Amino acid sequence: MSPIVVLEGVGKSYGGVPAVTDVNLEVAEGERLAIIGPNGAGKSTLFGTIAGEHRPTTGRVTFDGRDVTRHRSSSRAMAGMSRTFQVARLFPTMSVRDNLFMAALTGQRRGIKFWDMFSGHREVHERVDRAMEDSSLTELADAQASALAQGARKTLEMAMAIVQEPRILLLDEPTAGMGYEDARAATTQLKRMLDGRRDMTIILTAHDMDVIHSLAERVVLMANGQVVLEGTPREVAEHETTKALYLGHGGGAA
Ligand SMILES: Nc1ncnc2c1ncn2[C@@H]1O[C@H](COP(=O)(O)OP(=O)(O)OP(=O)(O)O)[C@@H](O)[C@H]1O
Ligand SMILES: [Mg+2]
Repeated sequence: MSPIVVLEGVGKSYGGVPAVTDVNLEVAEGERLAIIGPNGAGKSTLFGTIAGEHRPTTGRVTFDGRDVTRHRSSSRAMAGMSRTFQVARLFPTMSVRDNLFMAALTGQRRGIKFWDMFSGHREVHERVDRAMEDSSLTELADAQASALAQGARKTLEMAMAIVQEPRILLLDEPTAGMGYEDARAATTQLKRMLDGRRDMTIILTAHDMDVIHSLAERVVLMANGQVVLEGTPREVAEHETTKALYLGHGGGAA
């Protein structure tokens, strides 16, 4: 299948200090890719160059055949990219339902149609209802986002990204900061939310091997800002390089 994202020689420095160096990567449409690596490996930075909130210092990012290297994240979102952050970003004083409604509305790739407004955004409300069902948030529909427990906040953030029906979903550490039980529950929930969306390309970063085995088909291992290994989740998890890297960082996920 043709690649939906191509990175060519992508590098990003902060004040002259390289965080990502010369990354070449192709992601096929519909693929589910995990980017893993120890703390500070450059995962979030690389992610930011794909999503558009970091402009690469070197190289080129192509999305759906178009060079988007200089495009802002807002224009990439309009072209069909949605992302979540390592720390969830919500509208804290709004209800779960209204958070999803805002996300669905702002993520409308086709723009807001006259008929939508005329019909009271019926199609958008239907998508919001489906998103709440898929994410088991229906009972919390009227709860204020700031009052949600951490797991539910994260689920809401993911539902907000998915309700936009993006072509690419970018998930930065979907279980970051969660304890074991919450992380397992969130992973199961996320898998369920993505099950009916096989056409959606997913790129995620994770430390959590359960997330990687549950959601990814291919894994790219980063260290010191570079891609050092790639393969299936099992191949990468069992590789000496992965073991050495994670042991060198106090054990941990892989
Ligand atoms: N805004 C920034 N300004 C300066 N340096 C930064 C900035 N963001 C990241 N860095 C540095 O770039 C390197 C890569 O960071 P990055 O956050 O991309 O790693 P990561 O793999 O996502 O790590 P983690 O697993 O902790 O999330 C690190 O050395 C980090 O200190
Ligand atoms: Mg990170």
